[in-house]
Amino acid sequence: MERILVIDDDESIRKTIANYLKKQGYEALSAPDGTSGLEMAEKEQVDLVISDIRMPGLNGLEVLDKVKAMDDQVQVILITAHDDMQSTVLAMQKGAYDYIEKPLEIERLKVAVKRALENKKLSEQLSSFLTIESSEYNLENNIVGKTPEMKEVYKKIGQVSSSKVTVLISGESGTGKELVARSIHYMGITKGYPFVAVNCTALSESLLESELFGHVKGSFTGAVRDKKGKFELAGEGTIFLDEISEVSPQLQVKLLRVLQEREFERVGGEVSIPMKARIVAATNKDLTMLVNEGRFREDLYYRLKVVDIEMPPLRKRVEDIPLLVNHFLGKINAELHKNVNKVTEEVMEILKRHEWTGNVRELENTLMQAVVLTQGDVLLRENVMIGKSDSTPQDAYSESLSLSEVEKIHIKRVLSANNWNKQKTAEILQISVPTLYSKIDQYKITRD
Ligand SMILES: Nc1ncnc2c1ncn2[C@@H]1O[C@H](COP(=O)(O)OP(=O)(O)OP(=O)(O)O)[C@@H](O)[C@H]1O
Ligand SMILES: [Mg+2]
Repeated sequence: MERILVIDDDESIRKTIANYLKKQGYEALSAPDGTSGLEMAEKEQVDLVISDIRMPGLNGLEVLDKVKAMDDQVQVILITAHDDMQSTVLAMQKGAYDYIEKPLEIERLKVAVKRALENKKLSEQLSSFLTIESSEYNLENNIVGKTPEMKEVYKKIGQVSSSKVTVLISGESGTGKELVARSIHYMGITKGYPFVAVNCTALSESLLESELFGHVKGSFTGAVRDKKGKFELAGEGTIFLDEISEVSPQLQVKLLRVLQEREFERVGGEVSIPMKARIVAATNKDLTMLVNEGRFREDLYYRLKVVDIEMPPLRKRVEDIPLLVNHFLGKINAELHKNVNKVTEEVMEILKRHEWTGNVRELENTLMQAVVLTQGDVLLRENVMIGKSDSTPQDAYSESLSLSEVEKIHIKRVLSANNWNKQKTAEILQISVPTLYSKIDQYKITRD
């Protein structure tokens, strides 16, 4: 039987909760203050602690800290005052599983207890998924992946890093083109020099030219002094030309010349400056197609793709997904001071099956959002916002849905429309508030 400890200085609340829990079939213990509660928690090996926040002596947040230090698997639910947003936020940050507000709603308590205990069980069944401690996350340029497609990429990075050949990286959005460009730079002979990135879409034609090559004073309105361009700033390092397909025909000519002659002039200037940097260009468009359509110079295209690296879309290397999940969870945990380190098989399957049109970036963002929403250490389906049938309300009631799916969607819509007021929602749905709560629980409906 699961053992729950209730700590509250208010005897009537303590008794109410304990009696209710007993009726629900749990073993319930209670303590009137933090110190005796902690002793009891340790001696009796409880599964869950429900503690008031404001108490004389040790307060609830201190109890939370000590319980977690004693045994991380013990779940904690805190009871907060209605207006106390700050301690609620703090409680969640410190690893409370949930909080319930005063005045107590018994159904809310029931759901929170049930979920906390489920979480504990699930967490104990799953072993930690992370292979790297999140505290070790400082490797910004770490490329993850073991599939043959990625090994091919590593091989190319290795081949180009010992020289300064020009590299063209192509691939869909979010596949890691910039990451690869940085790796080429930092793993090779350029590493002690600058890495200078230029986004070719971000600037107008004339600005881009001066941005790349610099200008001399007075060469155009606004050129009040001499200015070095990115090619000069990169020195013997790397210049990364992102979205190269967006460069205008005129500028394409100029770039071609730089690549052929290995020198350039500042806008309005006469002195030739030698180009010593390595050029890495990236594109998410199909350059061969643009060449065929006459929108990108063929000669420039060949000058850029001395070596070309093709980034595979994520859906073509599904076996890398668990590795990437591991990698990003570690990184995100470190960033958010969280410890979400377990993933259910169901969630992993869903992540593997998703299309990932936004590729690795989309995966990273999805995980970030999920970790933010996750209480406890297990990444749950309900927090992974992909492939959900209710994401498009217009066709929510499509013909392919089961009755219970429709029920779930409808309940969620009515809840949202009424700002999650359960009384009102229950009235509209013509069900009791407890029934509403149990349906929210059953369908795992969450507030977006
Ligand atoms: N193989 C990988 N291992 C680890 N992180 C990756 C990997 N691929 C991509 N990422 C991460 O995904 C995000 C997107 O990568 P990046 O910016 O390099 O993509 P991109 O191809 O340049 O995208 P876009 O075309 O949209 O500019 C970054 O945070 C990057 O660190
Ligand atoms: Mg990019």
